[in-house]
Amino acid sequence: VFGMKLHKTVVLVGMMGAGKTAIGKHVAQVLGVPFRDSDEAIVTAAQMSVTEIFERDGEAFFRDREAEVIARLLQATPGILSVGGGAFLRAETRARVHEDGVSVWLRADLELLWSRVRAKPTRPLLQTEDPRGTLARLLEERTPCYAQADLIADADPTYSIADMAQAVLRE
Ligand code: S3P
Repeated sequence: VFGMKLHKTVVLVGMMGAGKTAIGKHVAQVLGVPFRDSDEAIVTAAQMSVTEIFERDGEAFFRDREAEVIARLLQATPGILSVGGGAFLRAETRARVHEDGVSVWLRADLELLWSRVRAKPTRPLLQTEDPRGTLARLLEERTPCYAQADLIADADPTYSIADMAQAVLRE
C-alpha cells in the first residue's frame, strides 16, 4: 500500500485513549503520506501545552483554535489527521470533515480507554474527583457524534498498534 494515492485526508476521531495519534502515525508511515495531529498543531502554534491553554484561556478558546486548525489541515495534501477527542463534537467540524475528508472512528470500550488514559494523566478534562466516571460520561455523551464518522475501526485490547493500523487500512 506504500505510495497508494490518497484522494482525501483520513481523519481519525474518537475518545482520548483510543490510540488516534499512535495508530495515525503508523498508518501514515505504511502509506507514505504525511501525519498531522490537531492537538500538536495547536500546541506548536501556542507554544503551550493543552493543559496550559485550558488553564489560561479556557476550553472554549481551545475549541475555537481546534476548529480552525482542522479546517486548515484539511486543505493540506491528503494524509492522516488525528483530531482531539472533542473535535468531532462540533457540527461545523463534522460537516467540514465529511466534505473534505474521510472519517474513521476508533471505537474502544470504557475499560480499554480507562486502562490507557489512567497511565498518562495529562488530559485537562479528566482532572476531576472521579476521572473514570468522567471518562464514562464523556464516552456516553459523545458516542452519537462519533457514530457519524464514515467508517468504524474497533479497538481490542489484544490488538497492537500495527493490528489497529491494518484495521484502519482495511476500512
Ligand atoms: C480532549 C482530548 C485531547 C485534547 C484535549 C481535549 C477531549 O486529545 O484535545 O485534552 O475533549 O476529549 P486526545 O483525544 O488526543 O487525548
